[in-house]
Amino acid sequence: MVKRKRDDSNKDSDNNKDSSNKDSNNKDNNNNNNNNDDDNDDDIRKSLSSSGRQVIVILDKANLETVKTKKGEYTLLNSEENISLMRRLKKDPNDYRPDILHQELLSVLDSPLNKAGKVKIYVRTEKSILIEINPKCRIPRTFRRFSSLMVQLLHQLKIRSSDSEMLLRVIKNPVTRYIPAGSKCYGFSQHGTLYSPFSFSTLLPDDVPIVLVLGAMAKGSISREDNAYIEEMVSVSEYPLSGSVAINRILGAIEQHWGVI
Ligand SMILES: C[S@@+](CC[C@H](N)C(=O)[O-])C[C@H]1O[C@@H](n2cnc3c(N)ncnc32)[C@H](O)[C@@H]1O
Repeated sequence: MVKRKRDDSNKDSDNNKDSSNKDSNNKDNNNNNNNNDDDNDDDIRKSLSSSGRQVIVILDKANLETVKTKKGEYTLLNSEENISLMRRLKKDPNDYRPDILHQELLSVLDSPLNKAGKVKIYVRTEKSILIEINPKCRIPRTFRRFSSLMVQLLHQLKIRSSDSEMLLRVIKNPVTRYIPAGSKCYGFSQHGTLYSPFSFSTLLPDDVPIVLVLGAMAKGSISREDNAYIEEMVSVSEYPLSGSVAINRILGAIEQHWGVI
């Protein structure tokens, strides 16, 4: 379980006051994502609820990298459209699959569990840029529009709705700052301990938040070596699944267990 020195609950108002501060922090975040040594967890102004029956989904190792095209516009590097550019830059196309993150986000956001208000969502990129996704956010359904939204986010560090609600924002590392004390954290990989999705859901404690870490990349896997806060690696099929199918299976089983229809 994740241990925290102090309960940081009821800090919403502080959090709002601090948004300008956070924005400058976010700029630092791009240059210095792993250098948080001087941060004290006690000072994190984040509303954290330690109550049960809530799920925090972390989509890790997402491929989100922008590149300037010959026309001088920025685009999200992706293996389908930028193949000649990748050859020129000697990059492996398997490292540029932002479509995996797109599909996974749609699966989480569309899930009844999310619609019931029980989900929080974070994305961490391969380069350790951490993004908070408002669960009410409507992510574009076409990849082209998703791609331009991500380019805008990576350049501006936040996206607000027309009525100023924060939809997406780059936040400070590490992700454990946003995991409430006592949460139970599971990582997902084909190589984890095999459970049927429903038997996995019946093991979940009812009184603390559940953290689910899934990969948003094409190659490599989520591991406890890379994410020390993960307590157990779980597999929900004998077969390698796409990220979105894995999410649908896991969240579907939790919905069944918690009676979210
Ligand atoms: C596109 S897959 C990544 C493929 C990668 N080669 C791997 O094996 O993890 C995206 C994510 O789906 C999840 N996933 C895929 N198959 C799974 C399985 N059988 N059980 C649990 N999670 C799975 C993992 O979190 C994985 O990182």
